[in-house]
Amino acid sequence: MAKQVGILTSGGDSPGLNAAIRGVGKAAQIAFGMDVIGFRDGFRGMMENRVVRLSGDILSGILTKGGTILGTSRDKPHRMPIAGKMMDMTDVVVDNYKKHDLDVLVCLGGGGTQKNAFRLLKKGLHIITLPKTIDNDVAMTDVSFGYDTALNIATEAIDRLHSTAHSHHRIIVVEIMGHNVGWLALGAGIAGGADVILIPEIPYNVKKVAEAIRHRNREGKNFSIVAVSEGAMPKGMAEDFYAAERREEQAKDKKDRKKARAELEKIEARRAGNTVRLSEQLEKLTGLESRVTILGHVQRGGTPTPADRLLATRLGTACAEFIEKGTYGVMVAARGDGAEPVPLEKVAGKRKTVPLDHPWIEAARRVGTHLGD
Ligand code: F6P
Repeated sequence: MAKQVGILTSGGDSPGLNAAIRGVGKAAQIAFGMDVIGFRDGFRGMMENRVVRLSGDILSGILTKGGTILGTSRDKPHRMPIAGKMMDMTDVVVDNYKKHDLDVLVCLGGGGTQKNAFRLLKKGLHIITLPKTIDNDVAMTDVSFGYDTALNIATEAIDRLHSTAHSHHRIIVVEIMGHNVGWLALGAGIAGGADVILIPEIPYNVKKVAEAIRHRNREGKNFSIVAVSEGAMPKGMAEDFYAAERREEQAKDKKDRKKARAELEKIEARRAGNTVRLSEQLEKLTGLESRVTILGHVQRGGTPTPADRLLATRLGTACAEFIEKGTYGVMVAARGDGAEPVPLEKVAGKRKTVPLDHPWIEAARRVGTHLGD
């Protein structure tokens, strides 16, 4: 009997999701003769049993499309808001897996999705995941699809900001997404030639940033581009943030965890104002005019780059092969030119940060880019 495959996309959308759905779906049907269905809007749609059959023309013409034809949500099976209350709907999700006689559920998503998928694996479901995120923070994979497209968009934005910063002799502080990691700001900052790059992995000292900008001025460069990751923090705030994160990780019981989470959320709320605060502080400390540009969701929109289409197709088709072989409980990781199954327990709950000895960091410093420390 043909294998029954279910697919869903979960978490924030990202360019390359459709290419991955197409890769899994077409390879599963064409190369291996399987039946494929999709669940709408992530785990929410699976819980509500909203299904679309991924056969016929539905997988055609989507390779180049941004977003996800299935829709997505940030809902988790074990904590789903239902009529204003948080409910554990895991059993309903498991029932719907059984109702469709699935042999496997393929979950396309970032860090949160990997954790939720691992929970379902522990409930006895056959699960395979693919790494998707513009943040590039999924552990155990060289790269995730979505990152390259966002990197291109953010780099182009920095390129464009250069001419206006130059004409007005201004500082332009450009905020780049990335959640708690700096891959996107670091990559785009280097590729776009930003003068200062601030990332969460390197807490910054605003006085030192101002001094670096003043130094450029003394050398006759009367504008500066500061590429700042949305998660970048000044030193004091970073210490509080990482301490609260550790307390949450090491919490002995629910009460402790809840307390640490509440502290983290408070710091995150303050952190959300960092870019504007930084711009105001730099204006005061340097005497130069400063402007803020927040790139936001434009970094997640539109057509994926060829590199993301290739990556998503490579991982998606490899996923179909793993299903054929019955290799379950894994994430299909990008490794060199190939794809490798990595046990989900090695991925779930882990975050791939920028290592402080990463060659990009050294390269940035060598070309005179200030990293805020
Ligand atoms: O994880 C992708 C991402 O775009 C992050 O860079 C960002 O912090 C977050 O999602 C934004 O989430 P939302 O789209 O739910 O506002």
